[in-house]
Amino acid sequence: MKKLKRRRYPAWFRNNVLAPWDHLWAGTLPRYVRDRYIVRFKIRPFQHIDGWLTVTEAAALYRTAAALPPGGVVVEIGSWKGRSTYCLAKGLPAGGVVYAIDPFDASGEAGSAHTYQKRQGETPLLAQFEQRMTALGVMAQIRPLAGYSHQFVGQIPHIDFLFLDGDHSVAGTTADFEQYTPYLAPGGYLALHDYGPDKAEMGPVWVVENLVRPSGVYEHVGTFDSLWLGRKKGS
Ligand SMILES: C[S@@+](CC[C@H](N)C(=O)[O-])C[C@H]1O[C@@H](n2cnc3c(N)ncnc32)[C@H](O)[C@@H]1O
Repeated sequence: MKKLKRRRYPAWFRNNVLAPWDHLWAGTLPRYVRDRYIVRFKIRPFQHIDGWLTVTEAAALYRTAAALPPGGVVVEIGSWKGRSTYCLAKGLPAGGVVYAIDPFDASGEAGSAHTYQKRQGETPLLAQFEQRMTALGVMAQIRPLAGYSHQFVGQIPHIDFLFLDGDHSVAGTTADFEQYTPYLAPGGYLALHDYGPDKAEMGPVWVVENLVRPSGVYEHVGTFDSLWLGRKKGS
């Protein structure tokens, strides 16, 4: 595994000096500059973790996690080797946690499983995930749940940010949306990866167009490359 250099500040400095700046400059810079700033200074190592997340998507996950209240709870369905998990964990405010749900066995819906199997590597995926997150200093904020999303329904009773990137079939994404959003707090965020006009047959597009938008329950925050981000109304 490639060794990554990491600058570490004490927790009090990160929480009291660095973190408040995130909110001050977030709204003032053009999106392009802001995203590059985030990648350069906050989540640089994410680029060395295998996965499918773009710079714009990574920055959006980081910023959304950073906007959560202290102790915020993120549920990520589909973690792979931790590319998105890392960005979420880095953005979290003090006391926050990311539940990373994945079977960590390179399985998935038809159309994706073959790619996962080809890219998994020799070391077991869960070990790769934990080693990488530990090396990058974010493992304390992460609770890996090794298994399929349906196995953990109801076990996380309060969610501030739900990120769906697991089973991309219509049935799989629908199940994740229906089983997990009842636990998403009012004012909480919902993100789906692989949303876009060129992905019309995939679950995330179907769920956004047929369930999320018609429900009237979510306001659209933005679409960042293929990451659709919404916010549950209320509060
Ligand atoms: C596209 S990858 C996730 C990529 C990751 N978010 C990233 O940024 O690199 C999808 C992952 O979801 C997992 N997966 C597939 N079906 C799942 C399910 N029902 N529950 C949880 N994870 C699932 C796959 O094994 C794979 O590891």
